[in-house]
Amino acid sequence: FRLIRWLWRLTYLGAAGALVYVGYEIYLMRHPAEQEVPEEGKKTLVVLGTGWGSVSLLKKLDTENYNVIVISPRNYFLFTPLLPSCTTGQIEHRSIMEPVRNFLRHKKTAVKFYEAEATKIDYKKKVVYINDESEIKGNVRTSEIAFDMLVVGVGAENATFGIPGVREHGLFLKEVGDAQKIRRRIMDCCETAVFRDQSPEERARLLHMVVVGGGPTGVEFAGELQDFFQDDLRKWIPEIQDNFHVTLVEALPNVLPMFSKQLIDYTERTFKEETITIRTKTMVKKVHEKYIEAESTGPDGQKITENIPYGLLVWATGNALRPVVKDLMMQIPAQKDSRRGLLVNEYLVVKGTEDIWAVGDCAIANYAPTAQVASQEGAFLARLFNNIAKTQAIEDKLSQLSDLQSKAPNKEERDQVFADIKELQKRLRRVKQMGPFEYSHQGSLAYIGSDKAVADISWLTGNVATGGGLTYIFWRSAYLSMCWSMRNRILVVMDWAKTKMFGRDVSRE
Ligand code: FAD
Ligand code: NAI
Repeated sequence: FRLIRWLWRLTYLGAAGALVYVGYEIYLMRHPAEQEVPEEGKKTLVVLGTGWGSVSLLKKLDTENYNVIVISPRNYFLFTPLLPSCTTGQIEHRSIMEPVRNFLRHKKTAVKFYEAEATKIDYKKKVVYINDESEIKGNVRTSEIAFDMLVVGVGAENATFGIPGVREHGLFLKEVGDAQKIRRRIMDCCETAVFRDQSPEERARLLHMVVVGGGPTGVEFAGELQDFFQDDLRKWIPEIQDNFHVTLVEALPNVLPMFSKQLIDYTERTFKEETITIRTKTMVKKVHEKYIEAESTGPDGQKITENIPYGLLVWATGNALRPVVKDLMMQIPAQKDSRRGLLVNEYLVVKGTEDIWAVGDCAIANYAPTAQVASQEGAFLARLFNNIAKTQAIEDKLSQLSDLQSKAPNKEERDQVFADIKELQKRLRRVKQMGPFEYSHQGSLAYIGSDKAVADISWLTGNVATGGGLTYIFWRSAYLSMCWSMRNRILVVMDWAKTKMFGRDVSRE
């Protein structure tokens, strides 16, 4: 009994400690200290974008070493791994957004932020041209910013491969606005399908939810949508019960090509149980307002073209270059053979330039375009830039000491300066020892619906492939711990609890 009593006490103590910690974090978050202004003469470091790459750089960067300017059309960071959950209202979009003003205000030295799009980078003149593309425009809406160092972290846009009709009729899933549009369209389809005297064919079309692209974005969205139907929609709008259907269309022979065979099979089996149809070896060729034209390959290798009617079409076929990146690549001869993004060297320097680095989806460094890669690249650049600044400071000190040594009046002082120089040289060697960027793959995770997830995790000696309910708990805890701030974590947990208690909201807006 005594042991149990002690265990209780320890639990209380632990809970109290956790509460104090959370309270302290919230206090710190809401009370930023006064910021220093950047010193005159510091190099100007311009960072483009507020996504995974740029924000992880800004998080670890010692801003007192540079005059830092951040430019992005988005004044927030978006935690993309939980974006598919926003399409059904499982999570509210603001829970996975973190205003850049919040974390920039916590840096020791002030950082300037301009909400604008970089429209052109002139790498020879070292100038970035920017445009305010927001709804409200002032008298000045364009400007140019000179840089000493530039980090390009603008991500990628949605690939359509020039397939006609995609942009006009399909919805993407990359930004908060996309998730909101999808959420609205799902409800619109359901309400329109049950409109008085709607024909059975039209009802079936409106309730056919088609997802193109069997990568993780398409798979996670299809899973979330089916959950929405199973848990909520069919309860509140029973008339849609017999017609609501999700189809996932993929050009390759299987979905989730980056996962192990065992997990691909598991996902396909789970989708079958959830009644999601997977159409592999089916390539969408054209999109019309109410149907898609798709070419599928039969078991005998024969190609069949068919029209698939849809109410909602979500297009998730991967990444394409942003215009500003394409334009920069065209200016640099060393980039002319690259098609997928900015070629970078092992220190993430854009090949063919000296003071431009690239991180994340817009850079090609032989890794998949994931948040994991982008954030490690950003953190690497922060260390690199902090080291460059330290190196500069030590070299300045060394040159002062050499002057002092030559002017020292006696041997004793000369010896002392000599010893200081030796010590500094040792430090300089240590600081300069920074190796190139090395990516450490922690594994891949994806939610596949009905409270199941799949995970390929790097573990000590090899890979562990696992799927199911426990993996889903792991998925939730992993993403919760990766959320940007304590605020995000608390909001996400509250959203999960809210959905469990009240279900998802089926209002259209
Ligand atoms: P982004 O995060 O896309 O950020 C780009 C930034 O640049 C944005 O702030 C944007 O506004 C800004 N920008 C755009 N144009 C300009 C311009 N012209 N000038 C200045 N700024 C500009 N990866 C994982 O590892 N795990 C996951 O679970 C996962 N889930 C995902 C779920 C979804 C739905 C999606 C779409 C992606 C997911 N990813 C995941 C991939 C991951 O989000 C990307 O690889 C990651 O966001 C890339 O980071 P980035 O910094 O290169 O670009
Ligand atoms: P993706 O590139 O991974 O997959 C796109 C799929 O669309 C491909 O399998 C391709 O064969 C298919 N496709 C292309 N054109 C088609 C057509 N016309 N008809 C039918 N199918 C077609 O793209 P996705 O899922 O958007 O992911 C982008 C990046 O983000 C990837 O690197 C991915 O790893 C990462 N990501 C990671 C997640 C995770 O780890 N959970 C979640 C979401 C994205």
